[in-house]
Amino acid sequence: MKTIAILAQKGGSGKTTVAVHLAVCATRQRLRTALIDLDPQGSAHDWNESREDGEKLDAVKATSGQLAALLKHAKAAGADLAILDTAPHSDSVAAIAAQFADFVLIPCRPARFDLKAIGSTAQIAKLAKTPAAVVINAAPRGKLAEEARAALQQQGIAVIEPVLQQRAAYSHAVIDGRSVHEYEPDGKAATEIDALFACVRQLLKV
Ligand SMILES: Nc1ncnc2c1ncn2[C@@H]1O[C@H](COP(=O)(O)OP(=O)(O)O)[C@@H](O)[C@H]1O
Ligand SMILES: [Mg+2]
Repeated sequence: MKTIAILAQKGGSGKTTVAVHLAVCATRQRLRTALIDLDPQGSAHDWNESREDGEKLDAVKATSGQLAALLKHAKAAGADLAILDTAPHSDSVAAIAAQFADFVLIPCRPARFDLKAIGSTAQIAKLAKTPAAVVINAAPRGKLAEEARAALQQQGIAVIEPVLQQRAAYSHAVIDGRSVHEYEPDGKAATEIDALFACVRQLLKV
């Protein structure tokens, strides 16, 4: 079993959006997937609760103190992939998630204040000795995403190739517990998520 932690000290950067979409993608690709929601707000868990019966994923809300046992249990139950969604502004939970993860994915909006805040998240992954990379999320049309990529790389922070654009489909889909694949199967957001997940599979070797 491989574990990916979605971390960003900044709220609203897209952690939950990325976590739930990776979980749906993995499940569609027949990976046995556990979605573990470490954010006390429980958005990923609530999203799963609002999915239709029969479509619910294996998702639990947990504290960082429960994480070791939950991951052990998921592995014993035959899970291929565990996805950890986390809260912003919680260094200690983020550090624990990073320690248990094989890879840390850091969603970041290509905006000045978001870019400035990335250093502390990258540092958490570094201290945990877990490889990490940024995924640029909610990029507007134009050059901003590529400028952000260059700025992050100059700080020595890895950035994965796929970019998620700013698209209404991401916020509309999750309202009633869906993913962009279920909301607009042939839409551009679904294509982006496929590319993101293909990249994650390669990074995790899962
Ligand atoms: N690529 C995107 N395009 C449009 N809206 C997005 C995108 N990513 C996230 N959002 C929206 O931004 C808000 C914050 O995203 P969320 O995933 O909850 O962030 P976090 O979990 O990091 O706090 C949500 O309303 C979400 O629907
Ligand atoms: Mg969230």
